[in-house]
Amino acid sequence: MALVRTADLVDAARRAGHGIPAFNVITLEHAEGIASAAERAGRGVILQLSHNAVRFHRGSVLPIARAMAALAECAGADLALHLDHVEDTDLLHRAADAGFSSAMYDAGALPYRDNVSSTRQAVTWAHDAGLWLEAELGYVGGKPDAPVSAHAAGVFTDPEEAAAFVAETGVDGLAVAVGSSHAMTERTATLDLELITRLRERVPVPLVLHGSSGVPDDELRAAITAGIVKVNIGTALNIAYTDAVRQGVASGSSSDPRKYLAPAREAVAVAAAQLIDVVCGRP
Ligand code: G3H
Ligand code: ZN
Repeated sequence: MALVRTADLVDAARRAGHGIPAFNVITLEHAEGIASAAERAGRGVILQLSHNAVRFHRGSVLPIARAMAALAECAGADLALHLDHVEDTDLLHRAADAGFSSAMYDAGALPYRDNVSSTRQAVTWAHDAGLWLEAELGYVGGKPDAPVSAHAAGVFTDPEEAAAFVAETGVDGLAVAVGSSHAMTERTATLDLELITRLRERVPVPLVLHGSSGVPDDELRAAITAGIVKVNIGTALNIAYTDAVRQGVASGSSSDPRKYLAPAREAVAVAAAQLIDVVCGRP
């Protein structure tokens, strides 16, 4: 049980025919809650830090990344570190030294040719640095300032284009737009399962589902059966965390942040454990 590599967790999940959850970390309490969930479930998971979370940490990736790595090294479960939705190469190039074994290079909003050329450069750098690199084709909406919604016509990932994109760029994993959207607070997304099946048939690398918080449990299971491997989850944990903080603040007069952060950390653990069961099944 230790800090492991994303590629190993993804490959093991794919071989075993289940998914691998990748949970977003914003604060140390998120990471601690996720690590507890992985230990309770007896499953390895990915801890991921988004470019937006790095912005929250005032642009400094190292302090939170090193804390995540130290947590993983001491954990009673296998944990890997992934740098998510990286939008500039400066941050990408800091990934390896910060302890990440994988990154998602996010050029999904660019026109196809620009996405291909910038992603190919990112892949070349990542492979030289020993990192597994994910990219996006199609556009999963719902991020702050997102130009379009994934539910808009024409932005779902096309299988033929996806096959060409993977061949041209050499990416190790592909995020696909199949009906989910980022930051949904209700679990009402409907996925195009038939499209996922066609993508799996045409695309040789593992498929990644973003915006999984808005996807109901049965739909997540069906998506994994159809071909999704890496399942990215953020908002669901934030809902649990923030609800616990609200209750903790409302119910006490202490100014000690531990009074509400401890229940928030536990709420993250409970929410993450439920999702690990859905994505991985029971060991
Ligand atoms: O990359 C991260 C995810 O796509 C998380 O999306 O916050 O909607 O679960 P979510
Ligand atoms: Zn995402």
